Amino acid sequence: MSDEPSGAPAGGAGRPLPSDRELSRMSRGELAELAAELEDVTVVSRTPKPPEKRSERAVLAWLVLSALSAVAFVVVYVVWPHDYVAPSAGDHTIRLFYTPLIGLFAGTSVLSLGIGAGLYVKRFVPDEIAVQRRHDGPSDDLTRRTATAQIAGAAADTGLGRRPLVRWAALGALGLTGVIGGVLTVGFFVRNPWKGRPSALRRTLWAPSDGETVYLRHRTTVSGEVRRVRPEDLQPGSMITVYPYRLSDGTDPERLHEVDITADVPVMLFRLQPGADVRKKRGQENFNHGDYYAFSAICTHLGCATPQYDPLDNISMCPCHQSEFLITEWARPVFGPADRALPQLPIGIDGEGFLIATGDFIEPVGPSFWELRSS
Ligand code: FES
Repeated sequence: MSDEPSGAPAGGAGRPLPSDRELSRMSRGELAELAAELEDVTVVSRTPKPPEKRSERAVLAWLVLSALSAVAFVVVYVVWPHDYVAPSAGDHTIRLFYTPLIGLFAGTSVLSLGIGAGLYVKRFVPDEIAVQRRHDGPSDDLTRRTATAQIAGAAADTGLGRRPLVRWAALGALGLTGVIGGVLTVGFFVRNPWKGRPSALRRTLWAPSDGETVYLRHRTTVSGEVRRVRPEDLQPGSMITVYPYRLSDGTDPERLHEVDITADVPVMLFRLQPGADVRKKRGQENFNHGDYYAFSAICTHLGCATPQYDPLDNISMCPCHQSEFLITEWARPVFGPADRALPQLPIGIDGEGFLIATGDFIEPVGPSFWELRSS
């Protein structure tokens, strides 16, 4: 733009355009007024709002609540225990509050910030009705410069400059609410928050404890009856479901029932046909006892029980969504939605001829979870 006035009418107002020098001497208010003219804006009415201490305190309270909620969210997200423990464990209950709490604090933070901002606009920003006539094409340089002043004027109209406490509370609440998004983004990349810590998801009642032998047990219809499994209990090409048993469990029906209803303990014990063509998984070469193979009976898709066996094809099928597992190849899935093999239980035989577990599963039983690799 030159130093000379253009003489051209400004917008719809009809007055000549100011020169650069005149522009630089104009106050922000005058520039904002000029911007309105250039943009063919007519202010129909403008009602300033009187300062009100009570409203200011209400806005402050919402902003502070938002900031505190954001801080509480971060603290709960990082330090609240949230790994899985069995419902029977004493500290199970506290973990139930993890998800509700992070939802509550994140929601409160965003909601309070919104209410605080809305309340501020309602109580402090002047009511203005303006009409702008539409025109096509981009704005010229003069219009862009004056529009900047107009925006600054609008910011000044909010009165935040005169209310430092509210301003800082708004900035704090906005920043801390933004931290929630940051924490959630970073947390997304922490693949396994329990790495290196024992997890109930990786331990079952088949795990030997205190050097006590864990037997494979039939489940019978007679209350309190204990029948440990011997190899001759199964015909070639058959399968039974077995449960863990320790001599310390005794014959107490309550205790036996407690074991039987534990979700991750049912195991399918297979006796394959002699000479079956078996392929073993690396690291599990000695998990079988002769033709006897034991696999978790809990489907790795969504956790249904899979106690069905087709001895002709050596397939175990889950009735829920028809996943099929090939028993002669470490029970890997060959059909259906399951994408992980049934975990194999290592078994052997004791001096009395009973089948026993020689260790716990080396992979978690049941449906996959997000930090678990498929295999
Ligand atoms: S739960 Fe077994 S296939 Fe879905």
